[in-house]
Amino acid sequence: MHSPSELLKQIETAIVEIEYPTYPATLYEPISYMMSLGGKRIRPTMLLMSVDLFNGQIEPAIPAALAIETFHNFTLIHDDIMDNAPLRRGKKTVHEKWNVNTAILSGDVMMVEANKHLTRVDVSVLKPALDTFNATAQGVCEGQQLDMEFESRDDVSIPEYIDMIRLKTAVLVGGAMKLGAIVAGATADHAGLIYSFGENLGIAFQLQDDILDVFGDPEKFGKQIAGDIIANKKTFLLLKLQELANADDLTELTSQFNNADLSDKIGNITKMYKSYKIREIATAEMKAYLDKAFDALNRIDVPESQKSQLISLSLELMNREK
Ligand code: IPE
Ligand code: IPE
Ligand code: MG
Ligand code: MG
Ligand code: MG
Repeated sequence: MHSPSELLKQIETAIVEIEYPTYPATLYEPISYMMSLGGKRIRPTMLLMSVDLFNGQIEPAIPAALAIETFHNFTLIHDDIMDNAPLRRGKKTVHEKWNVNTAILSGDVMMVEANKHLTRVDVSVLKPALDTFNATAQGVCEGQQLDMEFESRDDVSIPEYIDMIRLKTAVLVGGAMKLGAIVAGATADHAGLIYSFGENLGIAFQLQDDILDVFGDPEKFGKQIAGDIIANKKTFLLLKLQELANADDLTELTSQFNNADLSDKIGNITKMYKSYKIREIATAEMKAYLDKAFDALNRIDVPESQKSQLISLSLELMNREK
């Protein structure tokens, strides 16, 4: 078995070795910029851990890992346009550093680059690999559309929210791990179970992201704090508050949606989160999805010792600060 840090090193090396065309520079420079800003590389790492779990070889799976990380970075560039986000990984977002049109096109060409990486997997697994990749990418678009539609709705239910984050975030974590299983030649049962592990972990991961958006340390988080509050995102925190708030607080919360004084808005909503202990409730929800992920992992019949690194990495992710 390889440790997550060994796998991460291989991913970083492979990313540095990617060569993009140079002309037009303004199309390709944002890609190198985005890809070199780091980030946790959690999806390609999980993909390679899935390969490892099923006794596959790491090297032939690197193109799939690059495809997933390139796709992820593309979604972040477009997500930052949609979310009007100024900061990503502690640096200016692509649309702020260049402009929106450049961010759209650089993102588009990253989707092409992701496909080019993926076509380098062994031809014997290419068809299922592409099918999984395409289903994943489509799910992310569906989730992103719902995320935006929810901004202007005030009747979003928690099950609708969970399905939205399943699509925008969790299918990519599940899809990455399933891709690892496919490249490793695992059985369809195993591929399904590792998908389920990744999907539930992905839901927990997005719940944590929603928590950090409000309660993260601005020095460490690398993104604008309270961007979700500013954009009236229907996060788990907000929906739970809507559910628990008494009549007066609910009126107050609803009036905050139109508060143009953003620091006042952030202060007021954060105060309500604290008084209703929303962070604690969201953390419990996150743990419930982590448990579902572990249930799926339990059902995979490989030696328990081969699962320990996936378990510890999952636990670390739930305690992350960025
Ligand atoms: C950000 O993903 C988008 C979400 C699904 C919350 P990450 O938190 O994995 O971002 P990086 O790649 O580490 O920057
Ligand atoms: C992430 O949702 C989903 C995708 C990027 C597809 P967020 O909008 O919460 O992600 P961050 O917080 O900007 O990283
Ligand atoms: Mg965003
Ligand atoms: Mg978003
Ligand atoms: Mg977020």
